[in-house]
Amino acid sequence: MEFVVNADLGFTRPEEVVDGNDARGLKRAVTRPVDEEFSRQFEFRRCQVRDWSAPGQPRLNFRKMGFESINLSHSDSLQTLLAQIREAGDISAEQARHLRRLLTGNVYPLSGGSCLKVLQVAPEGLIMRQGGPNGLKVDPDVEIGEMNGHDAALAIHGDQDVRGTPLKQMMRGFAPWMFRHQTPDGSNRLSPLVLVNLWVPLQQVTRPLTLMDRRTLKPREHQLRYALPTDEFLDRTEDMSQNDIWAFLHDDAQQWYFHSHMAHDQAYVFDTLGEPHGSFILPGEELAEHCYLQLKFLREKLAAGEVVERPARAAVDLSHVATEPLRQAIESMTKLVASAPVDKIGQPVVDVWLARAAEAMDSVVRKSLEMRVVALLLPNIWPFNRSVNR
Ligand SMILES: [Fe+2]
Repeated sequence: MEFVVNADLGFTRPEEVVDGNDARGLKRAVTRPVDEEFSRQFEFRRCQVRDWSAPGQPRLNFRKMGFESINLSHSDSLQTLLAQIREAGDISAEQARHLRRLLTGNVYPLSGGSCLKVLQVAPEGLIMRQGGPNGLKVDPDVEIGEMNGHDAALAIHGDQDVRGTPLKQMMRGFAPWMFRHQTPDGSNRLSPLVLVNLWVPLQQVTRPLTLMDRRTLKPREHQLRYALPTDEFLDRTEDMSQNDIWAFLHDDAQQWYFHSHMAHDQAYVFDTLGEPHGSFILPGEELAEHCYLQLKFLREKLAAGEVVERPARAAVDLSHVATEPLRQAIESMTKLVASAPVDKIGQPVVDVWLARAAEAMDSVVRKSLEMRVVALLLPNIWPFNRSVNR
């Protein structure tokens, strides 16, 4: 498998850019209704996305690149909780409380001699996402709520403008002074206080997260203010009915990274205040989607006790499938389709097949958890790196 994947990432269309309407000379992307067609507002651009887990790739660095991975494997309680959330496919209020308790006060080593001390997991912004292979909606009737029911983000974006809603109201305009940030119209590189996203991949055989090496971004040209309506999933007062986030234009100089087999023993931390990120569809996901739909059809028929006909077996070309985990998932789903119990065999055999098919279908659903974390970026030496989690 190659360590570079050629994939389409979603960017703001250049014709959607207007003047920012402030004295700072910055640009803004027009807000369109949330239910508007994706292609009206965004365009897919082919990008080279590097697998940073491949041998010889540079080590990630939060300070320099805007993102880095941290190790979550040493907490058994955390790993158990994450596995339970992954299996359930949603997060309960009790699990969210437990998760916050397990993370608060922890210290995570970062590269370059730094560490990140978690002060607080923000009450708002803890979100579980689920997305089917190749953009398939796993459950089209699911209701979007504050924590659950969110699909993977299709467009490249940055999560929060340090000068915008809701930070502006919550911190009475002091956020740019308190938080470390890099913004096109001014930065704060001195503060040790950071607002980061903690992004946990529960499973991402499909639709992985990609992040930009921030050193390759030209902020004044390609970073755009964007007002995101939030009425659909947040209950806020009228002056806070939108989130001020960032949208991005494509540029050939931008460098993108992903991880081809990341699980929840690791997580990303990235700068909430502007680090460009989004999910993308891997080459080969259309095959996973096809198998998923075949298995779904067969499961529904068999569960209803109907006699089914096995789909005709055609040779499948897997040469363009981007990653090894995706190739393995497609192969096992193809085998399951080929072994569907079509003849009159006993119910136990059918039940075993139904369970295996459900498991295989679930394995190609991307599931992730994300939360906003207020943290301190400190030297990784005692007493700064002392954990306060009891
Ligand atoms: Fe985001």
